[in-house]
Amino acid sequence: MKTNHLIIIPIVVFALIFSSCTNSSKSQSELSATSNPEMNIFIDSLLQKMTLEEKIGQTVLFTAGADITGPTLDENYVSYLKEGMLGAIFNIHSAKGARDFQKIAIEETRLGIPLLFGYDVIHGHKTIFPISLGEAASWDLKMIERSARVAAEEASASGIHWTFAPMVDIARDPRWGRVSEGAGEDVYLGSQIAKARVRGFQGDDLSKNNTILACAKHYAAYGAAEAGRDYNTVDMSERALRSTYLPPFKAALDEGVATFMTSFNELNGVPASGNKFLLSDILRDEWKFDGFVVTDYTSINEMIPHGFSKNEKQAGEQAINAGVDMDMQGGIFLRNLKNLVEENKVSEKRITTAARKILEMKYRLGLFDDPYKYFDEQREKDTHCKQEYLDDAKDMARKSMVLLKNEHEVLPLSKNKKIALIGPLAKDESHIIGSWSAQGDRSGKAISVFEGMEAFLGTSKNIKYTKGCEIEGNDTSNFSEAIRIAKQSDVVVMVLGESEGMSGEARSRTNLDVPGVQKELIAAIKKTGKPIVLVLMNGRPLTLEYENKVADAILEAWFPGTMGGAAIADVLFGAYNPSGKLPSTFPRNVGQIPIYYNYKNTGRPWDPEKKGDNYKSRYLDVPNSPLFPFGYGLSYTSFNYSDLKINKNEFNFNENIEVSVTITNTGKYNGEEVVQLYIQDVFGSVTRPVKELKRFKKMMLKTGESKKVLFTLTLNDLAFYTQDMSFKAEAGEFKLFVGTNSDDVLETRFELK
Ligand code: GLC
Repeated sequence: MKTNHLIIIPIVVFALIFSSCTNSSKSQSELSATSNPEMNIFIDSLLQKMTLEEKIGQTVLFTAGADITGPTLDENYVSYLKEGMLGAIFNIHSAKGARDFQKIAIEETRLGIPLLFGYDVIHGHKTIFPISLGEAASWDLKMIERSARVAAEEASASGIHWTFAPMVDIARDPRWGRVSEGAGEDVYLGSQIAKARVRGFQGDDLSKNNTILACAKHYAAYGAAEAGRDYNTVDMSERALRSTYLPPFKAALDEGVATFMTSFNELNGVPASGNKFLLSDILRDEWKFDGFVVTDYTSINEMIPHGFSKNEKQAGEQAINAGVDMDMQGGIFLRNLKNLVEENKVSEKRITTAARKILEMKYRLGLFDDPYKYFDEQREKDTHCKQEYLDDAKDMARKSMVLLKNEHEVLPLSKNKKIALIGPLAKDESHIIGSWSAQGDRSGKAISVFEGMEAFLGTSKNIKYTKGCEIEGNDTSNFSEAIRIAKQSDVVVMVLGESEGMSGEARSRTNLDVPGVQKELIAAIKKTGKPIVLVLMNGRPLTLEYENKVADAILEAWFPGTMGGAAIADVLFGAYNPSGKLPSTFPRNVGQIPIYYNYKNTGRPWDPEKKGDNYKSRYLDVPNSPLFPFGYGLSYTSFNYSDLKINKNEFNFNENIEVSVTITNTGKYNGEEVVQLYIQDVFGSVTRPVKELKRFKKMMLKTGESKKVLFTLTLNDLAFYTQDMSFKAEAGEFKLFVGTNSDDVLETRFELK
């Protein structure tokens, strides 16, 4: 048994120098070692004691296998741990389980360096919130931060120090299954959400035992995979990269995110895990990132099939020298770094730096003071699924839902209606919590739509249910029962959609219709002549042209989480007036993809009002417009926009632009509205999008109430990567839009001189 002692070093306890979590412009320097002299002394002293192998050990991460989140497993992680060759472990998610591993690290290794425990806590740990795309649809930054905070409270109670979230990949191709994990298509919305999630996970003090390291992933441009096929090639201009795909990562970094994760894709011929431009030139040199970089699951190994590395050893050399600090599951750093140092292909200094970044995060978490501080089983029992967390999850689920259609005010439903509840997801308690649902309970804890409606009404006497069909497959044998109960009802509520396994990682689809025979089922019910309320559960934009024709109302519920059915009932019966707005464009069909609101005008823009104008950028078979645009979402009430004003018509380069607009609730219900502000730079040294979201405000308006909304734009909001790639605003004409979605807006203009 190796003797070991916790490092005998004078440990000066000091207040962590983290600015308050409310600061919106935390710089990495606040996190750097220079602002923590005591940490510096401690880490320097520890590193001096460490052998090269022990430093390499810090760069090694393996899964404990409790969850399978990748293609390979290595059962030897315990022996690596005992040899001091394991710095972190993931997929352990109980305080007891983590404590057992930590005990080995502390008592059975030479230096007793504590392990870091990671896990994919994406949209909740035990209390599951709506999938991330659903949360994004709330446009409610405080609720999104709250969701991450609750996730951190529950995860940290189960021994987790580090979540592999937020996923901040911009995505404009809903064929890609991981659209479900992000914040949609827009840079500004995605950047604000990235910040909110980092704040929620990391809180205001990483040394507290209810805060966890966040991880901005997948760096970078993973969402631009060709043809929406996961892991596929990404090739784009530096301008596109910097304008669209990098800003949410920079936003997370400015908010103090502790770690980054590399992506599986190549970017312009160089896999992200070996990409010096991304990992050193931008992340370290330009952005001054001071945390550590972990790869995604075996992505170093995958540089061989990428055709970038001839063998594992070269892949390891390329990755560590490009800027990777920790190898997730690949075993390449474990097996090769010592030889690479001996062959002078990798400097020991580089490895010391990687180990330092990892040790610094362990220090900031307080693990050297108390390596067991996250392993309190009583706290775990007391924390998981607390009522306040369930209430938060229900509130977020309600705010995430998007009302896409509501003809003849079929919604909200009155409580005395005879309801036929039909669909493969109507009584579901498993898919409803979506993919990447951590320790969420799929065996009955989640509230189904049926349960939610029954609880809301206090009885199920007016609800007749049948499944109608499965999510997938072609069995229509239950259609007759569905038709029978529909005929006996006043209204039919159909709960259709995808399985949770149809979105998420390695879940790309070429057909975005609701799967199986669900469309046939809705057609059969349509023939009964009864009004149809369609509730959708899905992890991506779907192609809904048919459903939009035959349903009287459509409620996009995403995968709404543990409290999903209760939230859906609240919306269907009007206890909550839906306020969600689409964070991703819904195409008419797959042929339109990629389709997004901030497109370029082209030299031959098509104007649907001008008939016969053939030589224009258009399709023969469908309009260019989507079925539902970015930012779209209805309410049970109606809002009127008026008096859009700017304080001046002309601005010089050091003046802010003050915008005001009046919103009035002209309908019968109190409701929240997301007021959206877009700009268009009409011409520039490079072409500019027809619209760009620059501000939004979500606000409650009582019936008949008017509010004047004020926005301030700065010069930075007008800046872009010009023809010489400098980031600045250019003089010229601008259009400014404010409205209820990216299409329905008031317009005005101003000039920058
Ligand atoms: C997976 C995912 C990544 C996740 C990691 C660990 O392959 O790409 O998002 O955090 O492996 O589970």
